[in-house]
Amino acid sequence: MEFRRRWGFPVTLVTGVLSILVLGCVCSVSASEFVKVPSSVNCTVGQDCILHCAFNVTAGGGWGERSAVIWTRAETKYEVHVYINNRDQLEDQLPQYVNRTSLSDSELQRGDASLLLRRVTEMDAGKYHCNVYAPKQSGWGLIDVSASEFVKVPSSVNCTVGQDCILNCTFNYRAIGWNERSAVTWYQMGVNNPVHNYHDNEDHLHYQLPRYAGRTSLSDSEMQRGDASLLLRRVTEKDAGKYQCEVYAKQSGWGLIELVLVPAEPTTPPVPAEPTAPAVLEGQHHWFIVVPVVLCVISGLCVGLALCKKHADCCWKPSNALTASYSVTQTRSVRAQDSASIIL
Ligand SMILES: *[C@@H]1O[C@H](CO)[C@@H](O)[C@H](O)[C@H]1NC(C)=O
Ligand SMILES: *[C@@H]1O[C@H](CO)[C@@H](O)[C@H](O)[C@H]1NC(C)=O
Ligand SMILES: *[C@@H]1O[C@H](CO)[C@@H](O)[C@H](O)[C@H]1NC(C)=O
Ligand SMILES: *[C@@H]1O[C@H](CO)[C@@H](O)[C@H](O)[C@H]1NC(C)=O
Ligand SMILES: *[C@@H]1O[C@H](CO)[C@@H](O)[C@H](O)[C@H]1NC(C)=O
Repeated sequence: MEFRRRWGFPVTLVTGVLSILVLGCVCSVSASEFVKVPSSVNCTVGQDCILHCAFNVTAGGGWGERSAVIWTRAETKYEVHVYINNRDQLEDQLPQYVNRTSLSDSELQRGDASLLLRRVTEMDAGKYHCNVYAPKQSGWGLIDVSASEFVKVPSSVNCTVGQDCILNCTFNYRAIGWNERSAVTWYQMGVNNPVHNYHDNEDHLHYQLPRYAGRTSLSDSEMQRGDASLLLRRVTEKDAGKYQCEVYAKQSGWGLIELVLVPAEPTTPPVPAEPTAPAVLEGQHHWFIVVPVVLCVISGLCVGLALCKKHADCCWKPSNALTASYSVTQTRSVRAQDSASIIL
């Protein structure tokens, strides 16, 4: 909340005041024609980047004391750079842009409100508004800014001893324009001699570490398209560790990737023993025996009881006999259940 109030309020105020100033003018040119920006710009992390923005000075009625250029983040309206009264007014600039932005006074007179953004970070990616307020006209343009690492590598790669492995490395070739002077060098961390070296459109392997001889390659055609991945053949245990992919052109950059050795995949996965299905069958099998046995015992007891009733003098009292037959039946049932659950 604090944050929003701090940066949100002045922008609204300044924008409001300027809108009122501008509303007094006769506006004959639509906003989109007055301010022109590219729809997107691809910036490279760590490098400077220009966010182009041009306006029609003639249509705006020249560039005067009350003219202004305000760059904001489109999503939040926070201030990226504010220029009013012929000077920068950066008191409420978002902290992430402090000391990193500039506009050119002289270019403003000529209708160029481009923003120079230095040392781009990943946080700079997003949408930007270039708002221009001239004596007779105001307008804005929206630019989508992307910020990607110049050289990108995954943090690690899994390789298997004896097999070939690709150490991925890509770079933003649009930003540098690959040419014959461009170079790619792969190093193993902490070792001076390269694992692989490429420049002037060919491999230069005089200083290559001997144990990599004949085992490495880069693809010329892929490099033109920003892929400097290294193919490492017949991986050995000594190959484990960190590797650095360096790319040199108009810009340069590097990335670190760790080669992790993993055991070879077993060709035939072990077939798990199959204990469950037979166990269930066995349990069912026992139930088929136990249930009829219990039923036989019960019916036997019933027959016995009936005979006892007929010849009451030869047996216990009926109540006793009933209790006894029940307890016997219960004991049998419990035993049957016990044996079933042990089997299951
Ligand atoms: C930015 O990059 C995207 C994809 O990486 C591409 O389509 C687009 O044309 C690029 N824009 C510019 C201005 O180079
Ligand atoms: C600028 O605006 C004027 C009209 O005010 C128009 O004649 C001229 O062509 C515009 N210039 C550009 C470069 O668009
Ligand atoms: C910006 O630059 C000024 C002067 O060079 C310096 O004193 C200040 O610490 C810098 N601020 C940041 C955030 O880099
Ligand atoms: C490497 O293998 C480990 C486990 O063996 C796995 O967790 C990890 O995701 C793998 N990494 C890659 C880049 O495949
Ligand atoms: C590495 O590069 C290969 C081919 O160039 C690709 O198929 C694979 O997806 C990449 N792997 C990663 C982790 O980027």
